[in-house]
Amino acid sequence: MVIKDIESKLIITKFAMHGYNVHPSAIELLKEFKNELDEIIPKICSALNGSFIISREDILPILNEFKRKRRKEQFKKQFFVEKPKEVKNLKDEICIIKDITGTSTCEGNVDDFIAYFNSRFEKLSKILRQRLNGISISNIKKIRTEKVDVIGMVKDVRETQNGNVLVEIEDNTDSIRFIATGKLRDLALELMGDEVIGVSGVLRNNNIIADKIIFPDVPLNGEKKRTNFSIVFISDTHFGSKEFLEKEWDLFIKWLNFEVGNEKMREIAESVKYVVLAGDVVDGVGIYPNQEKDLKILDVYGQYEEAAMQIDKIPKRIKVIVSPGNHDAVRQAEPQPALLKEFSNLFSNNVVNVGNPSFLNLDGIKLLIYHGRSLDDVVTKIPRLSYAKPQEAMVELLKRRHLAPMYGGRSPIAPEKEDYLVIEEIPDIFHCGHIHTYGTSFYRGVFLVNSSTWQAQTEFQKKVNLNPMPCNVAVYTPSGEVVRLKFYGG
Ligand SMILES: [Fe+2]
Repeated sequence: MVIKDIESKLIITKFAMHGYNVHPSAIELLKEFKNELDEIIPKICSALNGSFIISREDILPILNEFKRKRRKEQFKKQFFVEKPKEVKNLKDEICIIKDITGTSTCEGNVDDFIAYFNSRFEKLSKILRQRLNGISISNIKKIRTEKVDVIGMVKDVRETQNGNVLVEIEDNTDSIRFIATGKLRDLALELMGDEVIGVSGVLRNNNIIADKIIFPDVPLNGEKKRTNFSIVFISDTHFGSKEFLEKEWDLFIKWLNFEVGNEKMREIAESVKYVVLAGDVVDGVGIYPNQEKDLKILDVYGQYEEAAMQIDKIPKRIKVIVSPGNHDAVRQAEPQPALLKEFSNLFSNNVVNVGNPSFLNLDGIKLLIYHGRSLDDVVTKIPRLSYAKPQEAMVELLKRRHLAPMYGGRSPIAPEKEDYLVIEEIPDIFHCGHIHTYGTSFYRGVFLVNSSTWQAQTEFQKKVNLNPMPCNVAVYTPSGEVVRLKFYGG
């Protein structure tokens, strides 16, 4: 036998020291574990029963066990990492104010759920206390005053036989029901399980007859922010999909490189300092049934290589912020950490990878990025909303000061000890994607943008009747005006 390489030599020597020979087919398998040989080899040798030449079959069970262990460790590394850190500076002007990346503590046990809901309640009731002076539910029952203000988490909503709506709310002392009649009825029917609200009303027979339902909301007097640069919003690039709109993407790139567009468009392109990508960077693998039929690149690493190559075409004077979505290779439960190093390392130096959601300060502009999976829940729950106007569904999240107000819907939530999905600080800009349609608006001074997609309709979307509005790009310009650019490759 000719020993061709150092790795094989090393493996053979290590086994020889234990008194064994090793078959070439087993050597090939062991090369994959070159950093763990000192741990693996003694285990293999002690499990042998009499054979002198170690075969592939002899080592397979032990190697499989190691693979499982390795996967477990990778999983841990991805989701349960070190100490919390509040603020970190990654690049000159980008300050990450809040992001789960590297701070997750969640193990998914009962205590985590209790801590998570306590955090949600505390954070939201703190915001609500600026709007009403709620007393605890147990005190309401003791004091028995007529007029009451209370803050609670929605437990149950149901219509009564006489057409009113009965809502049960709870705090950490007790629970109580309130009755919504007349105009309040419709509003009460839009309440989602586990959102936190304020109720003002009159106590009658241990129930509250509600006068007002109060959302945490954002203040009325917010004003749009001016800057001295522009921000470009994109999302749902779905690199790796057969339906990725390459010609249109190339036009977008050409615009950023001053190669297409009129004078006005060139002026805007010159002012662009940031491009923000709100998730679904790649199409992923195994996200929905038979997805492989829709894929041009079948492996996820290849998809990220493509993503990095395409994003590299964005001129380096621009900083690119990349946040993941439900198609990306991070945990599905929200908050999602930033892309793993093995993928994020593929991107150029002007790219900053952040989690989903992320609250950033871009040179004075407070930006909240959230992929937008819970928008599915909001649109399903509230019949007056539709996918054609995603910005209206985004308003509902802002009003509730929570990115996924409804627990147990289509958006899975990881029960972190702290609820990262509460919108604690009011952003200047709130950016979502996920819906694949385009919509912008201002709500009480906050700019809302849902930034379309770069993927044409897939077979799967046809089946579920999702009509995308691809290649629409919103640009927030220095005056606070929003420009909509459409890139049609023809
Ligand atoms: Fe998407």
